[in-house]
Amino acid sequence: MCGIVGYIGKGDAKSVVLQGLEKLEYRGYDSAGIAIIKDSKIIVEKKKGKLKNLETHLEGMDLDSHIGIGHTRWATHGEPSDRNSHPHFSEDMSIAVVHNGIIENYSILKNELIEKGYRFNSDTDTEVVAHLIHSLYKGNLFNAVTEAIKQLRGSYALGILHKDFPDEIICARKDSPLVIGVGENENIIASDVPALLKYTKNVYFLEDGDIARLTASSIEIFDKTLNSVRREIKVIEWDYEQATKAGFPHFMIKEIFEQPKSIEETLNRRVHNGIIDFSDVLSDDEINKFDMIHIVACGTAYHAGLQGQYALREISRINSLVEIASEYRYMNPFVNENTLAIFVSQSGETLDTLAALKEAKSRGAKTLAITNVVGSTISREAHNTIYTMAGPEIAVASTKAYTTQVTIFQLLAIYLAEKKGKLTKEKVEKLVSSLYSIPEKIKTTLDNTEIIKNVANFMKDKHNGFYIGRGVDFATALEGSLKMKEITYIHTEAFPAGELKHGSIALIEPGTPVVVIGMQSNLLEKTISNIKELKARGAHIITVARKSCEEAIDVSDEFIGVEDIEDVFSVLLAIIPLQLLSYFTSVDKGIDVDKPRNLAKSVTVE
Ligand code: F6R
Repeated sequence: MCGIVGYIGKGDAKSVVLQGLEKLEYRGYDSAGIAIIKDSKIIVEKKKGKLKNLETHLEGMDLDSHIGIGHTRWATHGEPSDRNSHPHFSEDMSIAVVHNGIIENYSILKNELIEKGYRFNSDTDTEVVAHLIHSLYKGNLFNAVTEAIKQLRGSYALGILHKDFPDEIICARKDSPLVIGVGENENIIASDVPALLKYTKNVYFLEDGDIARLTASSIEIFDKTLNSVRREIKVIEWDYEQATKAGFPHFMIKEIFEQPKSIEETLNRRVHNGIIDFSDVLSDDEINKFDMIHIVACGTAYHAGLQGQYALREISRINSLVEIASEYRYMNPFVNENTLAIFVSQSGETLDTLAALKEAKSRGAKTLAITNVVGSTISREAHNTIYTMAGPEIAVASTKAYTTQVTIFQLLAIYLAEKKGKLTKEKVEKLVSSLYSIPEKIKTTLDNTEIIKNVANFMKDKHNGFYIGRGVDFATALEGSLKMKEITYIHTEAFPAGELKHGSIALIEPGTPVVVIGMQSNLLEKTISNIKELKARGAHIITVARKSCEEAIDVSDEFIGVEDIEDVFSVLLAIIPLQLLSYFTSVDKGIDVDKPRNLAKSVTVE
């Protein structure tokens, strides 16, 4: 949440910062702002609302400068407004600050500063940072910042300018991400890699507690004890084009269409000559040792975890617990050195998931991250990391990250089953080849979206709806329902198909949409009975099932057929029409699909 960018170099700071903010807008879009140094003065411009508002406001302004910082906000302390927007600055406009994170002791610091005569202009926690640095400044910005951060509690990624240091940006991080892009006679800081891909693929991922001083031609990094340190430069594999819409109207639809490729690349990363390999992250000794798997995540990644639990149970007969990260941390979980704890996170930055990981680690678990972002905090905190090969996911609603996470779980389940002698070599080969058939099968759905567009047209005027499924289809129902809620604002709820009659069926009225996922062959008859109960009460049934499923076609008002595959893998086919249904409904409703209200992609607050 919140994105920060900073630029120093030969180019035009304003354009680099604005273009970086555009790539970070998924982190929050309540307001945006920029500060540059020009003629030994700091100029700050900021506007409530999306980045476009700021860009319009800046049109025609002379802001030529080689140094600047910028911010896109997801409001925590203080409502979205011009005055609460970042950058924040000292009263004499000598210092400007952008911040991602939360300063937990801000009110104590604020009171102390007020007693010293400082006056505050905003309701934010960040403003204290600007005044605090000012109060400690004795002619050396770096020293003032290091003194200030000693007093900060909470999380921060900071970018700081001082008018008397027009050739220097200071940045620092603790529990909020920050990368430095290394260019030629230009350097960039950003909350996430897509913001700097246009300029460089060489980056430093700062460690927790690091503070850095950047000029156009140098980067000095210091650790939390202020010792100068050399961090390894990482070369990013992603391309700038991957972080653009490439002709699609929205990132979300581009990312939905990228799924055949991202699933295939995720498979290719782990399967060589038909053999699955996770030996780099799990040794045979570890596999023999653990007697329980915990899977912990938030939101869509949690739903991928539910799919993982099902695959582990069905394919490898391994017991696992799936928990929401914000609950896991405080539930006094049963964890010991025989626990394998898996943390799933697209961004690798979600604070709840990170905190849960630290909890499991401190209790002796072997920790494994499944994430999409190389160098992310969760990947560095876990003992080992499995990367999904989804490429940058920009739309707030997660799609391709989810299906690649599910793919990893299915591969892992087969791998563990084989290691534990529960699958024959032939069976493993058959399952792997089946997984490889998924990308082509997804393409069939992507090539036939007319029926889904028609259903979207029906959905757009509804205010409520249900998603139901049995077994693992319930996890798919949860994910489909979440997608619908977050980008269309239609209130939907997901239930195990057999559970609706235990109370919530009272909400069914003539025309209430019920999306049914019917991919579990052995449970189909039961699901059809549930459909009939709902139809008898007037529900409008929209079923996703195998194309050949005549029984479902007969009882449905709308039927979306997908290709045939083993039940356990069918979840990867069934989710595609549900993603498309929310997307087209959102477009029909005129909602900003990629940036729905109140959300941010990377949730770095508790
Ligand atoms: C929904 C969505 C969120 C995230 C959740 C966890 O579309 O994207 O529910 O899945 O905030 O985020 P990560 O995976 O980055 O930890």
